[in-house]
Amino acid sequence: MKAFTKTKYGGPEVLQLEEVAKPTLKEGHILVKIKANSANPADWHLIRGEPIIARLAFGLFKPKDKFTGADFAGVVEKIGSNVSRFKVGDKVFGESMKSGVFAEYACVPENVCALMPEGSTYSEMACVPIAGLTALQALITHGKLKEGETVLINGSSGGVGHFAVQIAKAYGAKVTAVCSSKSVDFVKSLGAEQVIAYDKENIHQHIGPYNLIIDIHGNLNFADFKRMGERAVIVGFTTLGHMFSVLIKKAFSKFPLVQFTAQATVKDLETLATLIHENKIKVAIEKTYSYKQIPEALSFIEAMHTKGKVAMVWEDKDI
Ligand SMILES: NC(=O)c1ccc[n+]([C@@H]2O[C@H](COP(=O)([O-])OP(=O)(O)OC[C@H]3O[C@@H](n4cnc5c(N)ncnc54)[C@H](OP(=O)(O)O)[C@@H]3O)[C@@H](O)[C@H]2O)c1
Repeated sequence: MKAFTKTKYGGPEVLQLEEVAKPTLKEGHILVKIKANSANPADWHLIRGEPIIARLAFGLFKPKDKFTGADFAGVVEKIGSNVSRFKVGDKVFGESMKSGVFAEYACVPENVCALMPEGSTYSEMACVPIAGLTALQALITHGKLKEGETVLINGSSGGVGHFAVQIAKAYGAKVTAVCSSKSVDFVKSLGAEQVIAYDKENIHQHIGPYNLIIDIHGNLNFADFKRMGERAVIVGFTTLGHMFSVLIKKAFSKFPLVQFTAQATVKDLETLATLIHENKIKVAIEKTYSYKQIPEALSFIEAMHTKGKVAMVWEDKDI
């Protein structure tokens, strides 16, 4: 089968499309014929080995894992022993950083997968896992968002942001979204009541107030969170130095601020599938690439100005 591999750290050009053996099925896993993937900042962080501190986990001098990719959608080809939730032929989507899903086939744990909702496409559902889970867990699990509350979403037009705006609306919140002026119409179309263009208004002087602040871009200061919100969640970071300076100030304060890493859970994947089935959230795909162009897709998203998501498909008819 074809798979993207990496043997050194570097830009997306270090990825090689190779002919490799199909993965062996393990207990509690399913073998998925991959139909589509999506690109996430986590992919290029891993490929570049950045931030450098991450190399303690991912390999000091070169990547420990030859294979790569996280988000996928596809068809169950085989099921391993002790798999109870899926059968051969099911259409599934999910997220696994360790399964090398930028490939024709991947062996993934069943507990990071869910059934695709009826009527959805592989490219749509491949765009959901990391970005959708992160948005849902930021707002609901960690942000404890309640119906009728106000939320400021900083970095609202990208993968995580465009889901966050729609999920907050679906849970009955009033959304103020922050993005560049070129993304204002897009973010309004997702349901944001108010939009602040960060290139026209200085967010570091904005007063608010809001019940909840979700900082997806990761450039807000501790003083910004305290000035604008009752509680806050950090999703992304601009520099490690900035994030540490915010977290150190938080350690000496009672202000409720959470920084977290999203986890794939069956419950949250199924919640996202239901929201999509009920038309409460739509997946916006700015660009769709062929699987052969996965390195180009990763280069495109590295600019961090994607509107919605970028998908990669393994067959043209699967778009
Ligand atoms: N904690 C976690 O578990 C977790 C999970 C997933 C992602 N993340 C992190 O979350 C961040 C966003 O991920 P993503 O997939 O949504 O990335 P993305 O699709 O590249 O979106 C980034 C968005 O940031 C916006 N942006 C750029 N400069 C900005 C600024 N100065 N102020 C406000 N917004 C700005 C851009 O909007 P414009 O184009 O309108 O400028 C763009 O749409 C990344 O840092 C990623 O590593 C964390």
